[in-house]
Amino acid sequence: MHKKMAILWVIALLMLLATTASEARVVEPTLLEMATTQTSHMIQTASVFEKGTYEIATITIRKSHPSSPPHPLLVVSPKTTREYPIILFVHGTFLQNSAYSDLFQHIASHGYIIVAPQLWSSVLFFPSQYHEIEMAASVANWLSKNLQDVLPSDVHGDLSKLAVSGHSRGGKTAFALALGITDTKLEVEISALIGLDPLAGRSKNHLTEPHVLTYVPNSFNLSIPTMVIGSGLGNQSILPIFVPPCAPNEVNYVEFFNECGVGTKFVLTNYGHMDMLNNELGFISSKASSACVKGNCRKVVARRTIGGLIVAFLAASFLQDPSDYVNIIANPSLAPARLYPVETKIRHD
Ligand SMILES: *[C@@H]1O[C@H](CO)[C@@H](O)[C@H](O)[C@H]1NC(C)=O
Ligand SMILES: *[C@@H]1O[C@H](CO)[C@@H](O)[C@H](O)[C@H]1NC(C)=O
Repeated sequence: MHKKMAILWVIALLMLLATTASEARVVEPTLLEMATTQTSHMIQTASVFEKGTYEIATITIRKSHPSSPPHPLLVVSPKTTREYPIILFVHGTFLQNSAYSDLFQHIASHGYIIVAPQLWSSVLFFPSQYHEIEMAASVANWLSKNLQDVLPSDVHGDLSKLAVSGHSRGGKTAFALALGITDTKLEVEISALIGLDPLAGRSKNHLTEPHVLTYVPNSFNLSIPTMVIGSGLGNQSILPIFVPPCAPNEVNYVEFFNECGVGTKFVLTNYGHMDMLNNELGFISSKASSACVKGNCRKVVARRTIGGLIVAFLAASFLQDPSDYVNIIANPSLAPARLYPVETKIRHD
C-alpha cells in the first residue's frame, strides 16, 4: 500500500525532474525559475505553510496515566472525528518535548497526530544514545494498543501510516528506528522518516553508539519515503575555537542525507540548529538553545517552513497527494524561509 503511494509520488517527481539524468540533483535558482514556468499550472498557494483548519487538542500524559506509557508523552491531535496518520517525534539533547509544541500544533492542524515522548528527565539523568533508541522503540510499541486511550473521543490514529521523526540526536534515533537498529523488536511498521537536523555525535571520532552513519554514500537500506531537513547555520559556532558548533560537519544532516539512497533534503539556509523551537522556552531548553548560532530571522518563519514541509511530505507519502511536495521541490521559494539547497535522490533500477 505505502509502496504504491511512494511509487506514485516518485513518478510525479521523476516527471518533474525528467530533464536531468543525474542521480542527485541540486535545484539551482535559475532552474527554479524554469521549473516555475514549466509547472505553473500545478502551482497553487502552498497552504501547508499556513495553519490548517483542524481544531487541535494538546494533551500531556504522565507515566501514571492508566494507559501506562513507558515515558511521559506530549500528544497533539486534531479534535474532529476521523482517522489520522501518526508521527512519533523524538526531541533533541537537553530539550523538552514541549519546546516543539508550536511546530506540532502547525502539523496537527493539517490532520496529523503527533506523539512526542519526554526521554531526558533532567540535565543530570539522561539516557545514552543506545537507551534513547530503546526508549523510543518502547513508545512505538506502546502505540498500537494504547494510543487510542489518550486521544480525544472518536479520534483515531492510523498505525498503517506511522512516520518517525526527531530533532538533533533524536533525529539519529528516528533513523535508527527506521533502519531497525534496535534491540527492542518493533511491533509496528514505520512507513516514513523525517530527520530534522539529525546529529550522530560530537565529531566523526566521537560518534554516539550504536553507529548509524557508515560514511558510505547511499548505504542506508531504507525503502520508505525519507525527508531530511538541515539548518544552514548549524555548523557555525557562537564563539569559534572555544565553543564547538551545535551540528558539526561530518556528523550532521549533510552526511545523513549522503547515506540515504532515495529522498529529499531541504536546508533552511539562514537558520540555526534550534530555530524551530517555541519562542518561549523553559529554563533548560533555553540554555541548550543559547549554545547554538541563531538566524537573524523570526523563529515562527522557521516553524512554518518546517511544519509545511512535513505536512507536504506526509500528504505525498500517506495521502496520495504529492502536489504540494512536488511544487515545493520544484519551486522552494513557495516556502516562507529560504530553502537552499534542495536535493532529491531517485533510485534508478
Ligand atoms: C534491506 O532491507 C530489507 C527489508 O526491508 C531486507 O530484506 C534486506 O535483506 C536488507 N538488505 C541489506 C543489504 O541489509
Ligand atoms: C557548513 O556547511 C555547509 C554545507 O555543507 C558548507 O558549505 C560550509 O562550508 C560549512 N561551514 C563551516 C563553517 O564549516
